[in-house]
Amino acid sequence: MKTGVETIRILLIEDDADYAFLILRALKREGALFELIHLDTLHSSLKFLDQEPVDVILLDLSLPDTQGLETLTHVHSAVPEIPIIVLTGLDDADIALMAVKQGAQDYLAKGALVQTEALVRSIRYSIERMRILKELQHSEQKYRVLYEELKETQSRLIQSVKLASLGEMATGIAHEINQPLASILIRAEGLIDSWERGIPKDPMPKLKEIVRLVGKATVITNHLRVFGRDAKTHYQTTDVNTVIHNAFLLFNEQLHRQNIHITQDLAPNLPSIHCNMIQIEQVLTNLILNARDAMAESVVKELRVRSFLQEQEVVIEVADTGRGISQSKLPQIFDPFFTTKEVGKGTGLGLSISYSIVQEHGGHLTVETQENRGSVFRVELPAVRSNSNVSAQEML
Ligand SMILES: Nc1ncnc2c1ncn2[C@@H]1O[C@H](COP(=O)(O)OP(=O)(O)O)[C@@H](O)[C@H]1O
Ligand SMILES: [Mg+2]
Repeated sequence: MKTGVETIRILLIEDDADYAFLILRALKREGALFELIHLDTLHSSLKFLDQEPVDVILLDLSLPDTQGLETLTHVHSAVPEIPIIVLTGLDDADIALMAVKQGAQDYLAKGALVQTEALVRSIRYSIERMRILKELQHSEQKYRVLYEELKETQSRLIQSVKLASLGEMATGIAHEINQPLASILIRAEGLIDSWERGIPKDPMPKLKEIVRLVGKATVITNHLRVFGRDAKTHYQTTDVNTVIHNAFLLFNEQLHRQNIHITQDLAPNLPSIHCNMIQIEQVLTNLILNARDAMAESVVKELRVRSFLQEQEVVIEVADTGRGISQSKLPQIFDPFFTTKEVGKGTGLGLSISYSIVQEHGGHLTVETQENRGSVFRVELPAVRSNSNVSAQEML
């Protein structure tokens, strides 16, 4: 046992002078490795601990100024990082166990004889256990900080990839807004024209149409603002079809212009999902844009979106009639920075970000593909088990 070189400072808090003497003698026999300080009240001990460091405390629970487990609570909360060994009567097994549960490192039954070896072992083990405990807490803390940093970096990455794809979509989105604006212009000019030529025509249908088109453009610009916002960790219970609807808001017009035919086959009354709506929309946006790119050279351009329930999962499928993915590239498509697109067109981050978003939601993102025939991307998300399907239209 006499291997350590530094002295272990022990504070013995014990009002029984005889017992204190026995302990002192036992430790003396062990040599100069221990320094023992003896105090006999809680008050004097707390005062001492406030000033001086010790390595371990031997604590009798019944002192003149405190009794029972309360004694331990007082000392432990004053110096939580110092190991405490509780000294108990021979018949106090219950108290001893409770003391360990409440933070004591060990307990020793007081007998007429002090078992030196057991005492020394307990002292060493208590110090060692406390050291390991502290190290564990320290590395747990470090791990937590790292985890938080990782989450933060990931959410910043998600946000910047989304903004990059919004940038890439900018021309397309301008079309989404220009199309209603152009229609408004035609109708307004028509009204001006009939007015100037004095043709008595009911202006109401045109005015109503203008109001409807302004509403349409407003929905798009409002949604663009919501979608561009940093979503971080805002989860809500929603209907999957609403998210699909939102995703198409920004693309209908441009897909149409590229002669892509869209079919939506959305199951009604699906159970809700619990999700970050903006992030799931981001996933769908990535899949829609990939489908669009894959069909650039296709003769038949069909983009089919389906939603349905399969067991406990709500499934969204985005299918295209594009070029498909070769077996050799398939294992790489979810890797970050893997892209087959020319520089400036693709970041190679769409699928890898989408994969991690879906995984974060407890779901799966998979693909089935056939070269020169097309691909089907599948997003599976756990359904919320509840009868109340809250539909969140609040994103619009
Ligand atoms: N629907 C699809 N059809 C064919 N290939 C696809 C499809 N979706 C993704 N891919 C392939 O996976 C690659 C990675 O996609 P993604 O991570 O979204 O990055 P990016 O679109 O920027 O290239 C694409 O470059 C393409 O080769
Ligand atoms: Mg992409």
